[in-house]
Amino acid sequence: MFRDHRQGDRAMMRSDPILDFLRFVEGQERQSVRQLLDKILSKSREMTGAEAGTIFIARRRGRKAWLEPVSIQNDAIPVKKGSFIVPIGPGTIAGYVADSGRMVRIDDVYHIPKRKPYHFDPSFELKHYRTCSMFCFPLKNFQDKVIGVVQLINARKKGRKSPVPFDPSVEQLVLPIARAVGHSIERAQMLERIRKKNAELRLRNRQIAELQAQTEEAFQLSIQLLARAAEIHDEGTGNHIVRVNEYSYFIARKLGMPKEFCDEIHYSAQLHDVGKMSVDQAVLKKKGRLNRKEREEMDRHTIYGYEILIASPRLAMGAEIALNHHEKWDGSGYPYGRKGEEIPISARIVALADVYDALRSERPYKPAFSHEKAVRIITEGDDRIDPQAHFDPALIALFRKHHRGFDRIWRQWVDD
Ligand SMILES: [Fe+2]
Repeated sequence: MFRDHRQGDRAMMRSDPILDFLRFVEGQERQSVRQLLDKILSKSREMTGAEAGTIFIARRRGRKAWLEPVSIQNDAIPVKKGSFIVPIGPGTIAGYVADSGRMVRIDDVYHIPKRKPYHFDPSFELKHYRTCSMFCFPLKNFQDKVIGVVQLINARKKGRKSPVPFDPSVEQLVLPIARAVGHSIERAQMLERIRKKNAELRLRNRQIAELQAQTEEAFQLSIQLLARAAEIHDEGTGNHIVRVNEYSYFIARKLGMPKEFCDEIHYSAQLHDVGKMSVDQAVLKKKGRLNRKEREEMDRHTIYGYEILIASPRLAMGAEIALNHHEKWDGSGYPYGRKGEEIPISARIVALADVYDALRSERPYKPAFSHEKAVRIITEGDDRIDPQAHFDPALIALFRKHHRGFDRIWRQWVDD
């Protein structure tokens, strides 16, 4: 409307340009700072009739303060993104506006009186362009701090070939706008900082998850090595510990145990015999029958295992299994003769898994049995195994129903 007063008066009757501007700026909040500033600059130029303009953002680090051009527009010549900075303080026009918080309106920048605390630096002039009139105003936040500067160049008027001075009324016009815009920019900057922080946090979380996965892998490997170390004196156990893990996991799932329990037994079952590491070597390696004292030492692998594993909370289930995997449902097992549900469910599961695998495997005292024979022995018994006395009846029922799964695991992990 500064281009033509009659036109402007008509526009004023239709709507309030300040309200329009505020509404415009409020609608821009979700955008990036750069997009917001581009739009603010176009709108400012449209309202004041400026041919070109720049929006600077104030940056501060320690005692240093400078202006950085973020949005540059020029209708007369093509412009590239500026890579220069302007120090805040007296000297340049934009630097003075940022420092003083005052507006500056100049009819011709090449005729600024010497007494003014600012001057025009022609070295900033773009090639094939001549700056004449200028209107420069600060953008402030709610604390009245200058956060940026809008520099508008060369007001244009219809029918006039060369630039005209900016109308004095532009000062009144931008007064309420400058603050609202400053507030919006600050909000957009804050949103951008939050977005950046969130991206950093997401990256850090990914790194932590990666480290956790590596630690978990190392943990799993360590306990597998521990379990393997314990069976070094047993002949031909091969994949025994892996299969016991798998049967136990399979039973736990079929039993409908919680996921955490299933995951824990999946790696804890293999630890049932780690106590053998502490058993007297002479007893462990002895071929043939053990006497009573030797038998007692051998049976103590349950307690030794518990003592090794109880040191770590993550091995608590392993400790419980090591201690109780030779207990029997009727109380005839060892080391404590616990019976029924006194025996932890984890150990009752592993006991069944361990026996099935022993039946399928060749041992110095027996050949390897077929799946059918193993099922028959576990469900009906033989001269060594009495299912009613040894196992949890619920687990026997479950085994009867899902025994095929055991055979599948055996065949998947069979020893060469
Ligand atoms: Fe054992």
